[in-house]
Amino acid sequence: MNILLLGSGGREDALAWRLRQSPSCDKLLAGPGNPGIARWADCIAIDPCEPDAVVAAARQNGIGLVVVGPEAPLVAGVADALRAAGIAVFGPNAAAAQLEGSKGFTKDLCRANGIPTADYVRTERATEARTALNRFLIPVVIKADGLAAGKGVTVATSRAEAEAAIDAIGDAPLVIEEFLEGEEASLFALVDGETAVPLASAQDHKRVGEGDTGPNTGGMGAYAPAPVLTDALQARAMDEIVRPTARALADAGAPFSGVLYAGLMLTSEGPKLIEYNVRFGDPECEAIMPLIDGDFAELLQAVALGRLAEIGQPKLAAKHAVTVIVAARGYPGIPAGGGLIREIEAAEQVEGVTVFHAGTALADQALVASGGRVLAVTAVADTFANARARAYRAVDQIDFADGFHRRDIGWRELERESA
Ligand code: AMP
Ligand code: GLY
Repeated sequence: MNILLLGSGGREDALAWRLRQSPSCDKLLAGPGNPGIARWADCIAIDPCEPDAVVAAARQNGIGLVVVGPEAPLVAGVADALRAAGIAVFGPNAAAAQLEGSKGFTKDLCRANGIPTADYVRTERATEARTALNRFLIPVVIKADGLAAGKGVTVATSRAEAEAAIDAIGDAPLVIEEFLEGEEASLFALVDGETAVPLASAQDHKRVGEGDTGPNTGGMGAYAPAPVLTDALQARAMDEIVRPTARALADAGAPFSGVLYAGLMLTSEGPKLIEYNVRFGDPECEAIMPLIDGDFAELLQAVALGRLAEIGQPKLAAKHAVTVIVAARGYPGIPAGGGLIREIEAAEQVEGVTVFHAGTALADQALVASGGRVLAVTAVADTFANARARAYRAVDQIDFADGFHRRDIGWRELERESA
């Protein structure tokens, strides 16, 4: 089977790396890809958000499966166009991608189907939102409705802060939510409309600074699995959250096909949904890929063809993986571009380590930074502590003067292990 992978970040580098190792993967193309992905795939210059261009590229290259990495092409209807053209695709149609594209859509779906989530109100105008605030305790959560890459969310610890967040969003749709207390964990489930199976769990670190301080980012590091999501809690999340969601979408004529990423709050009452994403997390994907056993391309194809029930539960190695993001100075603000990156090969000499490229480019044959998150240094080992030690040993090999990283990725897990 020839595969076309869409995207150009660290998540896609990890997907490409894992697909390349799959027995059922013949030719692997990536559009547009990046210098890291080019190690495993032939990169082609296409805009992954252009449905016609993607369909044409798939036809020209005899592609049997398109794997969509990021959410933007899904929201733009790229999977719809591929399905309409009879090309198998891993990723949901635009209607089901609303789970990520519209927070209000997801909240209403949860309410209508008794899926545990924070209580909420949707509003359209700032005055209406200010009035609705009265119904909530402080802290309260204010979210802009629409794709915001995790940045349109304010957890307000005072009424004034909540009002400022509402005013910043202005007269636009927003969601006001009850504040949930607990530890966050992510569950990645494969869904093919009818069937939903758990693939992996993970935790990430969203804040830029050590001790989980400073502004939110796309993620400064991650690890998988997340032992805090025990087998029992994972089973509850599948039964109370993921499966009812899949059923509701199928009943609404918008069946979900792909990976459903449930951001969960593990509250004293059980797992509650914070948000859905309709693709793999980044950097969670980089930590999950080294754990997957078996033919990954075949697994994604089974999802695409609605044959998940036939192939059974995906298998994970009983190992741990840790990913440390190396970002460019300035991130999550405007990152310093063009900084020289060296010694990736030395980092990959550390046992169990792969350095995925998140934001790199080639300039006169030299590898340079081009983006906020630049490298996703990933290590796998038999224990969490060993994986973490390997990841930092590898990070310390890398020569990237413009870069920075957090030294405390996985601190909760370290505390748990030493307790
Ligand atoms: P979201 O983009 O909806 O995932 O929100 C980003 C982050 O805000 C989440 O990862 C949580 O840390 C936090 N957050 C969102 N909603 C809530 C909530 N209802 N209660 C507590 N924290 C929340
Ligand atoms: N790491 C968070 C995300 O991919 O949305």
